[in-house]
Amino acid sequence: MSWARRAVPAAVAAVAAIAARDLLQRDHALRRNFPVLAHARYLIESIGPELRQYVVAGNDEERPFTRDQRRWVYASAKQENNYFGFGTDNDIEHTAGYPIIKHRTFGRAVPPSAPGAGHDVTLPCAKVLGAARGRAGAFRPESVVNISGMSFGSLSGNAVQALNRGAALAGCLQNTGEGGLSPHHRQGGELVFQLGTAYFGCRDERGRFSLERLKDLVADAPVRALEIKLSQGAKPSLGGLLPAAKVSAEIAATRGVPEGQDCVSPSRHAEFSDCDSLLDWVELLAAETGLPVGIKSAVGDLGFWEELTTLMRDTGRGVDFVTVDGGEGGTGAAPLIFSDSVSLPFQQGFSRVYRTFAERDLHEQVVFVGAGKLGLPDNAVVAFALGADMVNVGREAMLAIGCIQAQKCHTDTCPTGVATQNAWLARGLDPARKSVRAANYIRTLRRDLVKVAEACGVEHPGLIGTDAVEILDGRTASTPLDQVYGYRPEWGLPSAADRAEIVRLMTAEGPRGGSAPPSPTAVG
Ligand SMILES: Cc1cc2nc3c(=O)[nH]c(=O)nc-3n(C[C@H](O)[C@H](O)[C@H](O)COP(=O)(O)O)c2cc1C
Ligand code: SF4
Repeated sequence: MSWARRAVPAAVAAVAAIAARDLLQRDHALRRNFPVLAHARYLIESIGPELRQYVVAGNDEERPFTRDQRRWVYASAKQENNYFGFGTDNDIEHTAGYPIIKHRTFGRAVPPSAPGAGHDVTLPCAKVLGAARGRAGAFRPESVVNISGMSFGSLSGNAVQALNRGAALAGCLQNTGEGGLSPHHRQGGELVFQLGTAYFGCRDERGRFSLERLKDLVADAPVRALEIKLSQGAKPSLGGLLPAAKVSAEIAATRGVPEGQDCVSPSRHAEFSDCDSLLDWVELLAAETGLPVGIKSAVGDLGFWEELTTLMRDTGRGVDFVTVDGGEGGTGAAPLIFSDSVSLPFQQGFSRVYRTFAERDLHEQVVFVGAGKLGLPDNAVVAFALGADMVNVGREAMLAIGCIQAQKCHTDTCPTGVATQNAWLARGLDPARKSVRAANYIRTLRRDLVKVAEACGVEHPGLIGTDAVEILDGRTASTPLDQVYGYRPEWGLPSAADRAEIVRLMTAEGPRGGSAPPSPTAVG
């Protein structure tokens, strides 16, 4: 037999063996879904830096998440080395708007010396959610990093499961998104239940909101708070449509809609039509469920916020938390003009909303949550300095469970099984394994936040003030964060009592750091 005749069957057998191994393994969704072919991607990725250096894009050019940012999330999720060598490749000196965090040489909090320290640190919210308004179910969220609302429907059941189990492992909350509370959300993680315009999961046969169904739902699941969705940064003021083909029996049952028919979300709520009726509804939900109630919104016209806060101040009714979603936020699907141009980016939108509350002296009574690429530590630190008490992570959590930023979420062909209802593609995502990655990523983000806080001389990221951040205007000038956004001194921080309590909680096991012991392994 010639050499070629022997080689061909051997090659076929080798490919078959690789295909079988890919199909049977559970670590990589891409390999399970695209056996053999997926290796080409890994190969190209492994020589990506060299290819890009000469041919394609740089480490900081891709959007919405740059290669560096994704590499950091992937490595953190896999608990691999997430450090970067040689120094920054960002063009700090020439990038207007670049935030610089100012460390302190002799701060109150001293970082521990061990490189891995802080990975398992608990990082609770500096405010007690619902306490200011005396809600029966008021509680201190265990984690300042939580998982943002992404519905079952836009995400696969396996992705929702991975995130819910990840939330349980990391001790954080998962927001259900507006698509209702599915069996995939019942894997041990605690929840924030989101009420969108279609009231999925708590609507009657005619599609109207049903208080009884909501009460049954929250009594039967680990729901800790309710979030009324007014709008989303990537598509404010738009309703939604889940096409008939995607409305499976499971989705239909979760949402309370007929199977196999187009599932429409209106663009406006039917339960309220202005700030006054919104506040009435908030108080009704809080009284009937005992849970803290908040709103989620993108920021456009400020008139809504001014009216809302004036009514809160004058009438005593009010929301327990406000989630501000930046215009740079994500979506499963939206028209380009809405994603690109409608609603303010996070920092501008959030600071305007915070100021509106602070001017009426309400800022210490409300928990502020931020979203919009805040799963990256530098963005999150600026958010905390501006007054955020917690951050929600959406797409970064998707990256942690395998998303490769193919940006096909709207086509139902997501190659990694994250954002699809295609059963074959979704089965590639193993919820048990990916939940560990979600949890690792969240823990790493929390650790980085603690480390930056300590570098700034404080014990908790919520104590980082606007004085710790400057925004570069270019090579020769920068502006302190409070001046950029018109903040008064003390704005951006919790009340004195909340500050004292969070310091007590963070130092309960004794002060960390102190004089550094001799460090024989220091590498500098
Ligand atoms: C696939 C997907 C589905 C989403 N579904 C919802 C939703 O149901 N309700 C909602 O309020 N926001 C939804 N969002 C927005 C996110 O909750 C979040 O506010 C936004 O993506 C900003 O966070 P990020 O930059 O960390 O992704 C969705 C985002 C994505 C990517
Ligand atoms: S891999 Fe692509 S299609 Fe899938 S979730 Fe990520 S961006 Fe969306």
